[in-house]
Amino acid sequence: MPVNDPVVAEQTPAEDHTIEQRWEKYSREEHEVWSTLYERQMKVLKGRAAPEHFKGLELLNLNDGGIPDFRRMNEKLHALTGWEVVTVHGLIPNDVFFDHLANRRFVSGRFIRDADKLDYLPEPDIFHDVFGHVPLLTQPVFADYMQAYGQGGAKAAKHGTIENLTRLYWYTVEFGLINTPEGRRIYGAGIVSSQSESVFSLDARSPNRVHFDLERVMRTDYRYDDFQQTYFVIDSYDELMDATAKVDFDPIYERIKPAPDHKASDIVEGDRVYTRGTQEYANAGGLPKQADPV
Ligand SMILES: [Fe+2]
Repeated sequence: MPVNDPVVAEQTPAEDHTIEQRWEKYSREEHEVWSTLYERQMKVLKGRAAPEHFKGLELLNLNDGGIPDFRRMNEKLHALTGWEVVTVHGLIPNDVFFDHLANRRFVSGRFIRDADKLDYLPEPDIFHDVFGHVPLLTQPVFADYMQAYGQGGAKAAKHGTIENLTRLYWYTVEFGLINTPEGRRIYGAGIVSSQSESVFSLDARSPNRVHFDLERVMRTDYRYDDFQQTYFVIDSYDELMDATAKVDFDPIYERIKPAPDHKASDIVEGDRVYTRGTQEYANAGGLPKQADPV
């Protein structure tokens, strides 16, 4: 639980781990942190983020002078795709997280990072959760993908393959790249909410950039606390839907469960490689505290 948010600390979470946002209790300083981060990200994301991200920010009016009031934001979001955002007290168990997604509820933290620590987070804050994740929930195909992902959670638990499913989320929802007619763009929330990784993921020589493949992704380790060593690229959100929601995961889990994992830095047989990274950043030890958790 974030120690610096008394509004979280004073509440007892409901059974589904939700609490109230209590928007009226945000301070002026907290709203200013949102606005500072918003403006900073918009500068770096120009020509880098997927067009659907900008569209979602606009549709939800997320640049309205501070931290969004979920009641107002949810009216717009619900009308568009039937999704809503709920507040939780911190990290929540997998099954609760999956259940929220399966019911078109995206979970967000309440707290926002401190003004003097804009690039360091002990856990995801409301800027990551809302600025990073919610814009794409205005897009019907992506909204359906997120629900299908949540519905897949119970099956993964049955097979003992939650970790494999988590990797799918990681390499798409958090750290995905997408090809567009204007060039490669970012759609992953972990990247769009991070100033430094927005540049690194697209421009650095260090990471691999490989076309998305479901089983390949689910067998690949990832970096939790630093820039990724491989980014997976899709051609469209429909590609994600087709590769996941429309297939039977039972035989996939049977195949990948005994198969060895790939290292985060590996290029493997069958990869459609866009960039073979030098891995110079990771080999030099990285700079863990520059990366934002997701
Ligand atoms: Fe996230």
